[in-house]
Amino acid sequence: MPRIYNTIIIGAGAAGMMCAAHTGGQTLVIDHAKNPGEKIRISGGGRCNFTNIHTEASNFISQNPHFAKSALKSYTQHDFIAHVERHNIAYHEKTLGQLFCDNSAKQIIQLLQKDMQNADAHLQLETRITEISKTESGFQLTLEKHGKNEILTCRNVVVACGGKSIPKMGATGFGYQIAEQFGHTLTDIRPALVPLTFDGDILETAKTLAGVAIDAKVTTDKTSFNEALLFTHRGLSGPAILQISSYWREKQPIEVALLPSHDCLDLLRRERTRSGKRAIHKVLAEFLPKSIAAQIAKRTQLTGNLADQSDAKLQRLAAAINHWKLYPIGTEGYRTAEVTLGGVDTDGLLSKTMQSKSVPGLYFIGEVVDVTGWLGGYNFQWAWSSGYAAGTAIASDITTAPR
Ligand code: FDA
Repeated sequence: MPRIYNTIIIGAGAAGMMCAAHTGGQTLVIDHAKNPGEKIRISGGGRCNFTNIHTEASNFISQNPHFAKSALKSYTQHDFIAHVERHNIAYHEKTLGQLFCDNSAKQIIQLLQKDMQNADAHLQLETRITEISKTESGFQLTLEKHGKNEILTCRNVVVACGGKSIPKMGATGFGYQIAEQFGHTLTDIRPALVPLTFDGDILETAKTLAGVAIDAKVTTDKTSFNEALLFTHRGLSGPAILQISSYWREKQPIEVALLPSHDCLDLLRRERTRSGKRAIHKVLAEFLPKSIAAQIAKRTQLTGNLADQSDAKLQRLAAAINHWKLYPIGTEGYRTAEVTLGGVDTDGLLSKTMQSKSVPGLYFIGEVVDVTGWLGGYNFQWAWSSGYAAGTAIASDITTAPR
């Protein structure tokens, strides 16, 4: 006799565990990893940036910018914060509304595991799913664990297996395969929240400055982020670059402003009048890290003192500082991307419940869906909100008429 569950959740990550805690019981969560919540464990440098107090739908990228609104409203950042407080997990705001655990990301995993136990949801690890098929009343799944196969049946399947980012941590893209098997379309997927790579002179500059960080404004097309930028041996990283990577497309430039809060030309003219008998890099070093100032002076090939520079030359210098146009050659890819942009097309899903419009009982939650948050705790909030939406919908379905 096959084991029978009301709900089988594929993926014991943030979204899957959150969902399991709300399905109303008879739930099994399956994961091929050795431990649940591996991405939670490593997130936020081991402290998990578990939400953002400013979360709203505009912090998410999706072909349908309205899709996330319903789930985000039914389980908000304040709901998750209250939950964290109930579990006495100490936390702090780091910057820009980003909330981190004071101690360890493991506390968030423990919270979710406790919730699952309380909800009588079971966890089965190191298990692969080799087949899923639709039956009259639900689904049949074939599992494989340590070489042994088993068949399970259930009414609902929740796909919570995340995206393709960081394959070393168990990301497979399996969720996209299931979506296609059941006739769902996918939007284009690509690595996001990922460092950008360069070649030529820019790469040489980045290598020279590797390890130097600066608060900058980075723009592509009409989108800008004001956050830290970090030079690396491969190109550019840091929050401002990770954010812009979700919007950047091949062959497009990005524009970097290294002194975003200054009108640079105005500043340089004033400095020329105030004390122009100083070398350019020395003047720049008053406003920028010394190594960056030296690189800018080198890049513009302007020599001599500030007083020797015409307005046109100062304009060139100002542009090199605040309109630095760069052409990335690519990204570091899924190996280091924090998330996968795109996913299961939201056109095929009900926004209140995350249920498939065409296959009753099939749900998609978390990163596998075409809803991608900015850097700063938004992606976990999407995992909590979408997991809750699907879980509570399943729980309320238990008490209504059978399908
Ligand atoms: P998630 O990837 O968490 O879980 C999917 C689960 O499915 C995994 O347990 C995986 O093993 C399992 N799985 C995959 N394929 C399977 C298969 N074929 N069979 C069975 N199981 C399978 N976000 C944020 O808001 N704040 C932060 O601080 C960070 N920090 C961060 C750091 C790093 C290094 C990364 C890579 C990512 C982040 N993120 C983040 C993003 C965040 O981790 C991510 O958006 C969520 O974990 C997504 O939750 P899901 O549950 O959808 O997928």
